[in-house]
Amino acid sequence: MKKTTITLMIFVSAAFLIFIGCERKVIIENSEVSLTGDCFSCHGEDGLLLAAQGEWLNSVHASGTSVDYTNRGGSDCSKCHSHQGFLEFLETGEVSPPYDQVSAIHCFTCHAPHETGTLELRADEPVELQNGEIFDYGKGNLCVHCHYSRFDVRTITDNYEQTSSRFGAHHGPQGDLIAGTGGYEIDGYSYRNSGHATAVRDACAGCHMGQPERIHDGYKIGGHSFNMVDEDTGSDLSVLCQACHSDIDDYDYTADADHDYDGEIEGYQTEVDGLLDSLAILLIAEGVLDSTNHRPIEDITIADGNVMGALHNYGIVEEDRSHGIHNYKYIVDLLQSSVDYLD
Ligand code: HEC
Ligand code: HEC
Ligand code: HEC
Ligand code: HEC
Ligand code: HEC
Ligand code: HEC
Repeated sequence: MKKTTITLMIFVSAAFLIFIGCERKVIIENSEVSLTGDCFSCHGEDGLLLAAQGEWLNSVHASGTSVDYTNRGGSDCSKCHSHQGFLEFLETGEVSPPYDQVSAIHCFTCHAPHETGTLELRADEPVELQNGEIFDYGKGNLCVHCHYSRFDVRTITDNYEQTSSRFGAHHGPQGDLIAGTGGYEIDGYSYRNSGHATAVRDACAGCHMGQPERIHDGYKIGGHSFNMVDEDTGSDLSVLCQACHSDIDDYDYTADADHDYDGEIEGYQTEVDGLLDSLAILLIAEGVLDSTNHRPIEDITIADGNVMGALHNYGIVEEDRSHGIHNYKYIVDLLQSSVDYLD
């Protein structure tokens, strides 16, 4: 056979393999990797991946600005702040930084399309929160592998030795508050739950990835941007809330008198921020919160466990950053009981 015929035959069989979509192996960094699936079912012309990419580029996950590359790869922060740390954690339950070529959270952190041939999530099993409660709300489980309170509220006792200005839930305790747990509940008060975890499909993903109109402001909100608000234009996804709350046209919409806690009828988020401010003033007066940076005061023993609990409630609500929306009733009850107790 002529050389060109052989080349042509090889080319045709390769093309055939690509089209039938059987398993292929490629060499990446000296190791053989299997790629499964019909490439074009995902890499097609329908723009499925392009839209996700466009959105992801506008996400905080992509920017990963909060922890520098050295930190992401070189400390325990890597479990949640890096792709490599998260994957190792999922596989072994541990992290062993530093990693080579450490990268931010991206497509392959949450999906493993070239291993599974699908876009299913890498992790969707329920998550045990620090206080032993189980978070199990569909695809929201993925998010709560990282977005949970890092403090076990059950460890609060009287005569608590408070040794760290970083005491508390740390950043991102959304999983706990959505589920209506993780706050410090003072004996004699009752704590309600607004129930967004069960009402909204896939909890976190149902709101943050909600996409009633897929192309919003150049992919700035919804979908894989995970953003609820476009910081530049102020446009939001409140159209998504209207499926259940016909009256919401802004997350801070004005509540009726039933939801008033300070004698002035304000928006839901403003109301929660007001309660947080009142609690801060009381915690500062107790000598447990720093008046300038609002951080817990360290190296003190706090005699009353409920004061310690109120300090924790302040931190967990502040770090949740939804200003009450995630679980309005639970969040308001945590703040109000803390304020009442200290008052
Ligand atoms: C189940 C969906 C899916 C299938 C099937 C799939 N891919 Fe991908 N692929 C992705 C996603 C998601 C990405 C990441 C987003 C992007 O870069 O577009 C990606 C990225 C890539 C990249 C860029 C690599 C990188 O590191 O960014 C290459 C090359 C690629 N795919 C090749 C293939 C080939 C070849 C096949 C068929 C054997 C295939 N893909 C099948 C979903 C898929
Ligand atoms: C691998 C861990 C991890 C997973 C999984 C994860 N996140 Fe995140 N998320 C982070 C980290 C870390 C940040 C902060 C990144 C930074 O600031 O550098 C963040 C930031 C965010 C932000 C932006 C907060 C801001 O400052 O504006 C939103 C919103 C968010 N995540 C929602 C989600 C949702 C919804 C899911 C599930 C679909 C999810 N995350 C899954 C770790 C994770
Ligand atoms: C269990 C997961 C997890 C670990 C471990 C973790 N973080 Fe985070 N971190 C998050 C999440 C989730 C966010 C985003 C929360 C949000 O925006 O509400 C975040 C946000 C941050 C932010 C931005 C806060 C802000 O106000 O914008 C900083 C800074 C940060 N982390 C530093 C660190 C450092 C430093 C470490 C290691 C000592 C670390 N984190 C370990 C999950 C984690
Ligand atoms: C933080 C985790 C996370 C990251 C990072 C992530 N995804 Fe996803 N992705 C999800 C979740 C959760 C869903 C399911 C959304 C739902 O069902 O509402 C999803 C769904 C999808 C879908 C199908 C649904 C749709 O209409 O978008 C595609 C396609 C996709 N992802 C591609 C990508 C690509 C490409 C990237 C990188 C640019 C990426 N994903 C990064 C979590 C993630
Ligand atoms: C009912 C819809 C809804 C659900 C469910 C939901 N969120 Fe939110 N989330 C919001 C809204 C609304 C805000 C506030 C946006 C604002 O006012 O800036 C927010 C704020 C946040 C922020 C802070 C973002 C910022 O820019 O400051 C993070 C991080 C976050 N949510 C993560 C999550 C995670 C993780 C889950 C699941 C455990 C979740 N959310 C579930 C609606 C929701
Ligand atoms: C799938 C339905 C659903 C969606 C979508 C939804 N919610 Fe809710 N929401 C509920 C339910 C159910 C309650 C509990 C009502 C109650 O306790 O009477 C609730 C309660 C609330 C409350 C507390 C109201 C009160 O009277 O105590 C606020 C505030 C709220 N949601 C805001 C939002 C915002 C903002 C969005 C969009 C980001 C949203 N919700 C999306 C179902 C939903």
